Amino acid sequence: MLVSLLFFLVPAVLQGTNAVTYSVTNNAATSPGGQKFTNQIGLGYTKQALSSSADFILRTFQQNNQADKKNVQQVSLFIDNMSGVAYTSGNQIHASARYIQSYSGDVKREFTGVLYHEMAHVWQWSNGAPGGLIEGIADFVRLKAGYAPSHWVQPGKGDKWDQGYDVTARFLDYCNSLRNGFVAQLNKKMRNGYSASFFNDLLGKSVDQLWSEYKAKYQT
Ligand SMILES: *[C@@H]1O[C@H](CO)[C@@H](O)[C@H](O)[C@H]1NC(C)=O
Repeated sequence: MLVSLLFFLVPAVLQGTNAVTYSVTNNAATSPGGQKFTNQIGLGYTKQALSSSADFILRTFQQNNQADKKNVQQVSLFIDNMSGVAYTSGNQIHASARYIQSYSGDVKREFTGVLYHEMAHVWQWSNGAPGGLIEGIADFVRLKAGYAPSHWVQPGKGDKWDQGYDVTARFLDYCNSLRNGFVAQLNKKMRNGYSASFFNDLLGKSVDQLWSEYKAKYQT
């Protein structure tokens, strides 16, 4: 009786603070990309990587309390026969089997990097923010997790701060170097909408000024 009680209680206590469940479904299992997913990445690895990425993201965003987080119960990932790389809609991540098939390098590492980016979309606050900033924060997460791919631009590159993806991720990394935790604070402020003044609030300079100084730093 006691043993069976412990059996039920211990998992409940361990889950307590971050009771998110993860599911992975390969909808393209018969396609070449779906088979490559099975052979070189796998359902078990992906489920583990989803869980690890969520922990990393919540640490990066400094969302330690339930009240700071989105109320996410379940994240589902699907491998689909579709074009593109991946997208996230609410708590559903869709990854392209065709992209997995066509990727010629270390596909497990690339897939993991994509997963960190998409999982950031699940947890980040993005209400009313510029699309380029939303994508930049997701790629900042990927960068900090150590999964920046070699085809990304180098620091200092790009035409504008909110160009998105790698360009904005590199700029945010610069801003974060001026104030540790900057991206976490920015994300927190974005919970109820976006204002360009958030950059002034946190770093004492406008985003345009910060972009100029960033570009100047890397000018050769
Ligand atoms: C994947 O989608 C393409 C385009 O819609 C289709 O031609 C192809 O047959 C699909 N492959 C599989 C395995 O379903």
